[in-house]
Amino acid sequence: GAWDIGGHEHYMHKEICEQPDAVDRVLRGRIDDRFATVHLGGLGIDAREARGVRRVKILGCGSAFHAGQIGAQLIEELARIPADAEPASEFRYRNPVVDPDTLYIAVSQSGETYDTLAAVQELKRKGACVLGVVNVVGSAIAREADGGMYVHAGPEVCVVSTKCFTNTAVAFALLALHLGRVRDLSVADGKRIIAGLRRLPAQIAEILSAEEEIKKLAHSYADARSMMFVGRVRGYPVAREASLKLKEVSYVHAEAYPASELKHGPLALIEPDVPSVAIVPDDELLEKNRATLEEIKARHGRILAVAHAPQEAADDTIVVPHNEPELDPVLLGIPLQLLAYHAALALGRDIDKPRNLAKSVTVE
Ligand code: AGP
Repeated sequence: GAWDIGGHEHYMHKEICEQPDAVDRVLRGRIDDRFATVHLGGLGIDAREARGVRRVKILGCGSAFHAGQIGAQLIEELARIPADAEPASEFRYRNPVVDPDTLYIAVSQSGETYDTLAAVQELKRKGACVLGVVNVVGSAIAREADGGMYVHAGPEVCVVSTKCFTNTAVAFALLALHLGRVRDLSVADGKRIIAGLRRLPAQIAEILSAEEEIKKLAHSYADARSMMFVGRVRGYPVAREASLKLKEVSYVHAEAYPASELKHGPLALIEPDVPSVAIVPDDELLEKNRATLEEIKARHGRILAVAHAPQEAADDTIVVPHNEPELDPVLLGIPLQLLAYHAALALGRDIDKPRNLAKSVTVE
């Protein structure tokens, strides 16, 4: 059960280790091999309505917002619908233009985050269609939404989200595949994504089996004054989430930037005790990312790369397995959860209940 910590020292560790099973659960019963699509029974929108969607706007806070950023990219890539994510709080305070052809999606682990709930209520008051991508069954956001999908991560006890973030990203892959297949995504691409989804649980297990190596790296980076996380496009939300994770649990200051933005300012911070973590997937942006590593190295910054193959310009590389390029973000973040955990452990932090934080923020 949720409160049974098993052989783990912390819930955070338990929840990181549960991810192969959790991802298996979000996939279970939803894949349709015959039509190379997925069935999402609770969505409440039919194929015709799905085709009418002109835009997707995803709202959430913290890790849910970052999972939403991955979701927006997946929807753009697989369904070719313009999509973006925004912090729910910003959205609700800026008197947004609510558009009848936009599909709004609220993302939340707890389903009780006040800013996200308030955004949903405001949208509904204005007649918008709002879906929920939620973990806690029957929670306020799940009840308020017109439809949606549960991410089935199981109860998450640690204040710092890990397995729910991963499952939410996978849930968005399912939604993007579904929206893609009622639009212009081919059967062949649908099959390619489905095969990729099925590989995820074993690949996550493979990443987790390198824990000892990641622990050593965590010890060698934990004394950093500050850390810079960089990534491009698919790697950028991964960098943002990893940076948040490190801050929350280890209290080490961290920033996340799109790699291409470094030269527009943050490069001034790079020095030997400000290491960088670079997300370097083997995709069409590999050469660009390698140039970023050189840029950092020239300023004597240490570099830890998360990549599909060792990176020469990096001091250290955590190698993760390849999936399909669209699904790689799900895997690239996993070792950085362990990095944050072991850095926090080395620094003697209160892992499951970091100072100043609550599991769900039900106040404004
Ligand atoms: C995650 O590690 C954080 N503790 C926090 O950012 C969290 O994701 C955010 O408060 C949103 O919570 P929710 O998913 O329950 O809405």
